Amino acid sequence: PRRERPIIAIDGPAGAGKSTLAAHLARRFGFLNLETGAMYRALALKAIENDLAFDEEEPLLELAAYTRVRLEPQSEGNRVFLDEIDVSRRIRDTDVTAAASRISVHPRLRAWMVEQQRALGAQGGVVMEGRDIGTAVFPDAEVKIFLDASPEVRGDRRYRQVIVPRRAGEESSPQNIPAESTPEQTWAQQKILREMNDRDERDRNRAESPLRPAPDAVILDSTSLTLDQVLAQAEDIVRSHLAAG
Ligand code: DC
Repeated sequence: PRRERPIIAIDGPAGAGKSTLAAHLARRFGFLNLETGAMYRALALKAIENDLAFDEEEPLLELAAYTRVRLEPQSEGNRVFLDEIDVSRRIRDTDVTAAASRISVHPRLRAWMVEQQRALGAQGGVVMEGRDIGTAVFPDAEVKIFLDASPEVRGDRRYRQVIVPRRAGEESSPQNIPAESTPEQTWAQQKILREMNDRDERDRNRAESPLRPAPDAVILDSTSLTLDQVLAQAEDIVRSHLAAG
């Protein structure tokens, strides 16, 4: 049976602003936002805790068989539960980030994820965000946005989001960051950029569901747009597609 409400698929590389956009669109249209990357991260965390090798699919699949990952949509992003333990913060650490990218190359592990993601979105009324939503999870999604930005801009955003607020011991507040950087900041920034590029390359070049825009996705390049502009353009895209459908 046809779902009652639409699905908005948002894909794109790390640091393009997918989560912010997904949360915004979900609020605006009264949808649930679902971050599929958090599912890969949660399973990656369990793999770390169990000392599993990231490059062997079979043990990871066995682990997955007795793992429950649950997403709880909030107005800002998702809370993430791994076997009912809240791992929302832990899964953002750099070791989990790298591990998630590495385990996500395995085809059968992806199939396990995709099956759950389809069940989560079956009713529609969701903004689902990831790498393969428009190409593999919901190729029939009513709206598909591929959110991109230059590697430099994405690296810089990630840096501001991840490192700086943490060092200052406060919530994310990018506007407080001084323009000039210390050598340590420059070094940290370069490290983030390097790790992000590694991850991008893996995500784009894996054999199974590599990161790429669906043929019918609208590509939104946020490199030289402000956040407000990105949100406004995405809203327009959604409105015009929903009106046309
Ligand atoms: O979006 P994110 O940074 O939380 O995703 C973490 C990793 O999970 C990313 O490097 C690739 C993988 N991923 C994926 O392969 N497919 C998705 N739909 C979402 C994430």
